Amino acid sequence: MDTARVVIDPAFRIGEADRRLFGSFVEHMGRCVYGGIFEPGHPSADRLGLRGDVLELTRELGVSVVRYPGGNFVSGYRWEDGVGPVGDRPRRLDLAWKTVETNAFGLDEFMVWAREAGVEPMLAVNLGTRGVQDALDLLEYTNHPGGTYFSDARRQHGVEQPYGVRLWCLGNELDGPWQVGHKTAEEYGRLAAETARAMKLIDPGVSLVACGSSNRGMPTFAAWEATVLEHAYEHVDYISAHTYYDPSDGDRASILASAVDMDAFIDEVVATADHVGARLRQRRRLKISFDEWNVWYQSRLQHDLDRRGWVEAPALIEDDYTATDAVVVGDLLVTLLRHADRVGVACQAQLVNVIAPIRTEKGGRAWRQSIFHPFALTARHARGTVLRTEPGGPSHDTKRYGSVASLSTVAVHDEEDGALSVFAVNRGESPVTTELDLRGFPGLTAVEHLAIDAGDATDVTPRRLDPPRLDGGRATVRLAGPSWNLIRFQTPR
Ligand code: AHR
Repeated sequence: MDTARVVIDPAFRIGEADRRLFGSFVEHMGRCVYGGIFEPGHPSADRLGLRGDVLELTRELGVSVVRYPGGNFVSGYRWEDGVGPVGDRPRRLDLAWKTVETNAFGLDEFMVWAREAGVEPMLAVNLGTRGVQDALDLLEYTNHPGGTYFSDARRQHGVEQPYGVRLWCLGNELDGPWQVGHKTAEEYGRLAAETARAMKLIDPGVSLVACGSSNRGMPTFAAWEATVLEHAYEHVDYISAHTYYDPSDGDRASILASAVDMDAFIDEVVATADHVGARLRQRRRLKISFDEWNVWYQSRLQHDLDRRGWVEAPALIEDDYTATDAVVVGDLLVTLLRHADRVGVACQAQLVNVIAPIRTEKGGRAWRQSIFHPFALTARHARGTVLRTEPGGPSHDTKRYGSVASLSTVAVHDEEDGALSVFAVNRGESPVTTELDLRGFPGLTAVEHLAIDAGDATDVTPRRLDPPRLDGGRATVRLAGPSWNLIRFQTPR
């Protein structure tokens, strides 16, 4: 049996667990919007067509911020097609997913949905086929009080008060050759800087995200970030990162170690951004907006796209997630928390049906996938100060990442209510007996131990174990291999 020791102490502070780390993403893709959050005529739908069962699951998931409307979709989108009387809205070709966009759902419906879901909206502007002017028009529509063309259009559409949207993405994945309006780093850097500068003239309170690389494997990764930030650093607040981990090849050891890659990716983006910041003599440090991340069986996308012509909202990449995928998602959340000092926003992609924690049937039920559980539990319990933990213990070999640490842990301490939550993932196949050294928290008691064991099952709920006993400020827990675990403690109040 392998053993490990983890010291958890209030002095090992990383930063606050920003609520924006528990974001999600709604794209006009597949059945995420149509048949996902929006289905007029569904038994749970309201008068706008928003599905009540999906809203309820979204609230239960604990999502804080939702990015909209894309993704690749935004790079060919005209936002004004989706506002005003529904009967007047045009049908358009969506080149990103080769579908017909009816525009029956648009910005104003999304803002109602976001309010009902209790989430902060994060909007993306089209910098693929469009540019500075359209971004300004959209911002005028959403954030300007009134007395101008677009703000008055909003009021005519029944929305008197401005939405006051704070978070904005300056386009999407423009480094990717698949992107409509794909750009070089020079072209995008200039455009992002000019768009950002002009947007802040309308509303200096907005926070802006420049596009980083579409993933760490892009040939231009790091050079792209450096060039873009040479132009845009002083005008933006975040640089984005995206990553998806593909379990299709069945290499379980490697997929379970995916967070090792995310960890290195974050470190590299931070190093690149800080290098540019230093060269530009900027004291302000940028944060990362990790605004797309998840497990994705990517080989299925081409298959879905090959099968059809121009249709409305076809089922696309409706991946069924396993318990192993849930353990990976739990570990990716641990990694995001461990970087709470530099990752300020994170959005799991996507929310409903499209590689999503929530699935729906047309006219029927909505349900939780395996990956719903680690997300919901982390969002609920990772509140307060994130504490650095350095688990020692065993390591094991993987094909994709070489030798990796078997244990991945983080702790979050809520100083107000005295709760201490320890998130621990055993990525290896052997169980690890782990001593949690909690002497820095006198009077602690354990209240709960929940676990998800890796496996092929898709019908997954967390397993409840006996909470560990504390002995002289130390608790011993057995972390099954491989598994995701949440161990909750409480200090006296
Ligand atoms: O989330 C699915 C797609 O993945 C997004 O549209 C795009 O940004 C990424 O490549």
